[in-house]
Amino acid sequence: MSFPALETERLLLTELQIDDKEQIFLLFSTPAVVEYYDLAVFSEPEQAANLISLLKSRYAEQVGIRWAIRLKTTGKLIGTCGFNSWNSKMQNAVIGYDLLPDFWGKGYASEAVRAIIGLAFSGDLPCGKLHRIQADTLPGNQASEALLNKLGFKEEGLRRECGYWKHKFHDLKCFGLLKSEFISA
Ligand SMILES: CC(C)(COP(=O)(O)OP(=O)(O)OC[C@H]1O[C@@H](n2cnc3c(N)ncnc32)[C@H](O)[C@@H]1OP(=O)(O)O)[C@@H](O)C(=O)NCCC(=O)NCCS
Repeated sequence: MSFPALETERLLLTELQIDDKEQIFLLFSTPAVVEYYDLAVFSEPEQAANLISLLKSRYAEQVGIRWAIRLKTTGKLIGTCGFNSWNSKMQNAVIGYDLLPDFWGKGYASEAVRAIIGLAFSGDLPCGKLHRIQADTLPGNQASEALLNKLGFKEEGLRRECGYWKHKFHDLKCFGLLKSEFISA
């Protein structure tokens, strides 16, 4: 299946390209962006190129998908979003998203994430029809929680000390969205 590009009111969601490496480096070398991630702040531009290659190969292998979030007006990459993994048999997937801080609080994440969830629930991804989308956040990530709540996700519990990175264990707050609960507008 060719990469499913999407267009929203203000954004273009397209496949990441190797030419995006400067913006991807900027994104993942920003401490506020990776504060709640199991990822150290990028220090070398090469890490961005490697990440883009990895994400492209994950789509080619049909095990996940990540879109570049671009402003329609300039074409500039301002963030990414996608499904980190999916399970076709169980009809569920795990979502992720990030934006450069200059673009926070302007409704861009809602716009992009709503579009990819709509696509996922309509059955137009290589994983086929989905019934449920999951998100894991770290306690304290209020922006992410607000976004999930806005789209209809329900908080389902805390997996205690389920993650280990940056030299400590982390609780994960679990959110789930059933197709019937999706707030699409
Ligand atoms: C999470 C993130 C993508 C949100 O992006 P955003 O473009 O600011 O989100 P939106 O503007 O679409 O806002 C969505 C809702 O969250 C609310 N919100 C945004 N930031 C908030 C904050 N810091 N605290 C509380 N609510 C917040 C908005 O008010 C909006 O609700 P409303 O429409 O009812 O007012 C962005 O903060 C980010 O990139 N964070 C770093 C990466 C990250 O943590 N990703 C998630 C990992 S689980």
